[in-house]
Amino acid sequence: MRITTIGDPVLREPAAVVSPEELRSPEVQRLIDELIETRRAAGGAGLAAPQVGVSRRIAVVEVDDATRYRYKPLVPLTVLVNPSIEPLSEETLVINEGCLSVPGLRGDVERYLRVRVEYLDRDGAPGELVAEGLTAGTFQHEVDHLHGVLFLDRLVDTRSLATWEQFARHGEQAFLARVAPYTRS
Ligand code: NI
Repeated sequence: MRITTIGDPVLREPAAVVSPEELRSPEVQRLIDELIETRRAAGGAGLAAPQVGVSRRIAVVEVDDATRYRYKPLVPLTVLVNPSIEPLSEETLVINEGCLSVPGLRGDVERYLRVRVEYLDRDGAPGELVAEGLTAGTFQHEVDHLHGVLFLDRLVDTRSLATWEQFARHGEQAFLARVAPYTRS
């Protein structure tokens, strides 16, 4: 599927809750398969339905060896339907993020350090997970997409914005040192 980019109004709309009947439908099951395939092809850490032009509360998170963030801890494929996020403490972490819908740019965003995510899986069964550090940031980023929020809206400082190339050259080393407790071991 084609990933849409910033400026497309669908990225700014709150996505609609998915009913149990919709979730069982072949259309929505196919959408989930396509989100998984599209994320894998693009190498992001996750992908939300609005990013492929579908305003439904569905997102996938997966960090494998091919993901473009080499330092993020691996995360098995997780399909989130109607997810909600609850911070488990007030503690936050400033994470340098990118987004497939904001091509070329990365920037610093403040995220809750520890969160609980509640969701339905693709079969409609309730799921719950606790995430920390960079992984917690990934889940917050994807759920933000379902509220029409992009990481740019949460920048701690617009001067942290950089292209991927310049970040690799000037910012990555210091960032990885700062978030070392949370990187892939
Ligand atoms: Ni994104």
